[in-house]
Amino acid sequence: MADLVEVKVSKAVPTGATAVGTPVFSDRIKKVDGVRPAAMSRAGFTGAAGSQLILNDGNGVRVLIGMGPFSEVGTVELRRAGATFSRSVKRHIRIGFDLAVVLDLGIEGLDDSEAVRAVTEGLILGAYYFDVYKPSSSESRNLSAAVIGVGARVRDVAEGLSAGQETAAAVCFARDLVNEPGGSLTPTVFAERSAERATGAGLTAEILDEKAIAKAGLAGLLAVNLGSEEPPRMLKLTYEPSEEVAAKSEDGSVETVALVGKGITFDSGGLSLKPADSMIGMKNDMAGAAAVISAMCALPSLNVGVRVVSFTPMTDNMTGGRAQRPGDIYKTRNGKTIEVLNTDAEGRLVLADALILASEEKPAAIVDLATLTGACLVALGQKIAGLMGNDEDFISQVSAAAGTAGERVWHLPLPADYRKGLESEIADLKNIATGRYGGTLTAGLFLKEFVEDGIPWVHLDIAGPAFVSDTDGENSSGATGFGVRTLLHLLESWSTETEDSEAEGDESELG
Ligand code: BES
Ligand code: ZN
Ligand code: ZN
Repeated sequence: MADLVEVKVSKAVPTGATAVGTPVFSDRIKKVDGVRPAAMSRAGFTGAAGSQLILNDGNGVRVLIGMGPFSEVGTVELRRAGATFSRSVKRHIRIGFDLAVVLDLGIEGLDDSEAVRAVTEGLILGAYYFDVYKPSSSESRNLSAAVIGVGARVRDVAEGLSAGQETAAAVCFARDLVNEPGGSLTPTVFAERSAERATGAGLTAEILDEKAIAKAGLAGLLAVNLGSEEPPRMLKLTYEPSEEVAAKSEDGSVETVALVGKGITFDSGGLSLKPADSMIGMKNDMAGAAAVISAMCALPSLNVGVRVVSFTPMTDNMTGGRAQRPGDIYKTRNGKTIEVLNTDAEGRLVLADALILASEEKPAAIVDLATLTGACLVALGQKIAGLMGNDEDFISQVSAAAGTAGERVWHLPLPADYRKGLESEIADLKNIATGRYGGTLTAGLFLKEFVEDGIPWVHLDIAGPAFVSDTDGENSSGATGFGVRTLLHLLESWSTETEDSEAEGDESELG
């Protein structure tokens, strides 16, 4: 895999940079490096967000990066600017490998460190290309280094720089996993590659094989795997914060957050076979697991203060002679029986097992990520994930983390009366609801059944944004690594209830 762009910060623009990027605000167009506003507008450049103007004046290449109106510039725009810059440098400069690149950003009015983090993420993510099968592509050439000019703030932004690098590396790892075809990223390979990275990062990894899965009573994972020649896997990762960073509650214990991700390495639909067109892209059906695993691997370097465990069930959904049949019923680990009426609604079957295991950890909260329903794509399109949950406070917390991370989510309801649609005459639940509408919500309601009462839980349906057909902002076409940044922001900002209540106590004392 191509090396990631090495990002640095420096006080000033180093002389001799191969390319220099300069942000231009649409409502503050002024002369930039000798280029007059009139010349910019003649070239059709207005400083609109996402636009760029590339100038080659003999002194090297300059990229004017459209930022939109000054007052609207936040981390989303900065991340996009970083990506625009990397991408244009990759496309327009062809002088070989050793590129020194500079993006000189005025980052006033924003937290400097957060701003640098966003630009760093953008520089690395915008340059991403999945080069495994076409290393000869011009896209596979990468920038060797990028420097962000930050004036006198060099020391203040060190944390943002390293957080940006770690975050982007995690997102790129998720993209690599998701872009890998289902034929080569089998459950076995997926689990091994993930466990290797996780242990390298300092996590504990446990791979449950077929036997261990059967012993643990993970009936949903076994049922989905029946039609496959490839054995299933359940990967459990554990992150323990070090003494120095652990956020402790009053009794000295460290809270646990549990993450769950759908890891269907290829979804043919099973006997409820998908039409050919809908099957294209179904190698991405493990994007939830990839995001969870990648985020887990970044926790040590981000010094996260909460304990985190993850469960990612892995199998493909195939049509072999032993495949589960519509009508089959099985009993899950927590005793509930499920009537499988559509084998293409397989994600919820493997997630049920993982949510039960996650609940058994007695976590303070659970988040699951899954490319769960086509209906979510219909509702929210390719750029926005559906967010559902059982606890308003936790829903707000995850939504806020997504907002800071620059990943778009939209809160959808879990209407209690829609639960009727999942009732079966001969089992506790059906795996599809009666009627064709509201499929994202009924899928969410199905998952809710496997989260232990009282545990705050959020479900992110990432069927849309996990994979995009067009390059846009920090996302190049293909896998996006959606969810990694939201999870990292959520966990980085985690504080124990005690800390919160202490803060509240302080306030009331003052009042
Ligand atoms: N993996 C699909 C959902 C999906 C569709 C993800 C399109 C990404 C893009 C999931 O397993 C599935 O097939 N869901 C069915 C559920 C239905 C049978 C209730 C769907 O959405 O059609
Ligand atoms: Zn399916
Ligand atoms: Zn699926």
